Amino acid sequence: MNIGIFDSGVGGLTVLKKIVELMPEYEYVYLADTARAPYGDRSQERVIEFTRQGVSYLMTEKKCALVILACNTASAYALRTLQQEWLPAHFPDRRILGIIIPTAEYIAEKKAAAPIAIIGTRGTVASKVYEKEIEKRVSPLPRLLTQPCPMLVPLIEEGWHTSTPARMIVKKYLRPLKDKQIKTLVLGCTHYPLMAPMIKQVMGNNVRIIDPGSAVAHSLKTYLERHVQIEKKLSKKTRIHWLSTDVSDRTRAVFSRFWKTPQEIKRISLE
Ligand code: DGL
Repeated sequence: MNIGIFDSGVGGLTVLKKIVELMPEYEYVYLADTARAPYGDRSQERVIEFTRQGVSYLMTEKKCALVILACNTASAYALRTLQQEWLPAHFPDRRILGIIIPTAEYIAEKKAAAPIAIIGTRGTVASKVYEKEIEKRVSPLPRLLTQPCPMLVPLIEEGWHTSTPARMIVKKYLRPLKDKQIKTLVLGCTHYPLMAPMIKQVMGNNVRIIDPGSAVAHSLKTYLERHVQIEKKLSKKTRIHWLSTDVSDRTRAVFSRFWKTPQEIKRISLE
């Protein structure tokens, strides 16, 4: 069986990269719902519906024993409902994991300095899931701030993320956080690691930047060590299959911005 990696589009590749660096031996299936991306401004109902379709496809057609929602918006809006209501009725022996809980665990484990700020899509910020998961694990309660940065995803996908206009927009988004002298900044959107150097420059050296990808990869490794019954079912062919709900020249161009080696992307339908 395989490990599924689901994202609204290409951003999840930043998470896949960290997972594959740590555990290259498994057989992965990356599914990008590019036809319906971005998810960041969609309603919770739609994100749950689209994520359920993606996970269902990965479990039914691609024999995924577990699926990682490598998307903050899907993890924030859909993970809980799918884990509690949908999975037990349809695939009781499979698992779905998100990326927010491993990040909150990492923040607790590393005793990340407060104030802690989380930047992400409007959906992720509106869900308040980062705050809820950090509050469960860190005591005393750290000061938490959030900031939606909706213009960063299109800038990155257009390849403008190192440009002067991009720097102006980053400064505008981050100014309120800088003014509050935050000490830790969580990149709560899968695209943002591509802008990490600029974000670091704008925030200065005293702010620690957390990219959830590494935390997710380490948490998955620990999970597989603890769940031997799942791990032993996994195929070890050191391979990645690429699926997308739309494949155009633009899809390929954006993919190549996130993943340097070219891939054969297969178009699939989730509807
Ligand atoms: N993958 C999404 C996330 O991490 C960003 C792109 C989108 O809005 O779909 O929230």
